[in-house]
Amino acid sequence: MPAYLKSAAKPPVTAPRLVEMKAAGEKIVVLTAYDAGFAAQCEAAGVDVVLVGDSLGNVVQGRESTLPVTLDDMVYHTAAVKRGLATPLLIADLPFMTYLDVDTALRSSARLVAEGGAAMVKLEGADYVLDAIHALDRRQVPVCAHLGLTPQSVHKFGGYRVQGKTRSAAERLLADAHAVEDAGASLLVLECVPAALAKAITAALRIPTIGIGAGVACDGQVLVLYDMLGITPGKRPKFSKNFLAGRGSVAAAIAAYAADVRNGAFPGPEHSF
Ligand code: KIV
Repeated sequence: MPAYLKSAAKPPVTAPRLVEMKAAGEKIVVLTAYDAGFAAQCEAAGVDVVLVGDSLGNVVQGRESTLPVTLDDMVYHTAAVKRGLATPLLIADLPFMTYLDVDTALRSSARLVAEGGAAMVKLEGADYVLDAIHALDRRQVPVCAHLGLTPQSVHKFGGYRVQGKTRSAAERLLADAHAVEDAGASLLVLECVPAALAKAITAALRIPTIGIGAGVACDGQVLVLYDMLGITPGKRPKFSKNFLAGRGSVAAAIAAYAADVRNGAFPGPEHSF
């Protein structure tokens, strides 16, 4: 739908608004989407943030990892999602190796923002990535960092495993969380980390944390749309939940997810580590 035809009932969610939500103790509801139709369902259900994740490599393209996803793929899907949204903040993932240095990160992000319509870009890790976060922030592009199980590191991790389980790994994750905040990140996704560690990181940071397999104490939650609708083939990840089961429509499933995040019913201990 062209922007001039959209009649948002609520003001658009912005990066500063997410910080206000954290301060007010309002949970942030995040869901992935990859096309305009599902984006419109997120809009109708009152989702706060829509993430065009490179998880589209798995759930849309049927690949084994997110690594083959290209920047062109991300721009295409981000632009499609943008057409279905008026209110939620739109985040787009920077895919593998599209932020390997500062210049590449800036050029890749410019495409996601200018061509795709994203209001924030997401990248994985800390370390050398801190320079890119800082450079993007200085150029007024809000950044979502992503720590813990970062799927683009699957070969280094040797699989999709919970991170931050030992004392030294937990200390490193906390230090990385401070580092991404200090570099200028506006938001932090914590994926598959022990709930107690995610709680400590959430309490230590000014910026909001969004958990996926990181316990209920995060400032918000994100799920992969296809997982929470129960249509991802194979075993459902422990941290996810099929919200369509027992409900008659996608709209009802997304509304139930949003309600459960806001009232603290999701995630339960059975979805956490
Ligand atoms: O790609 C993705 O969908 C993500 C979420 C799982 C956080 O990064």
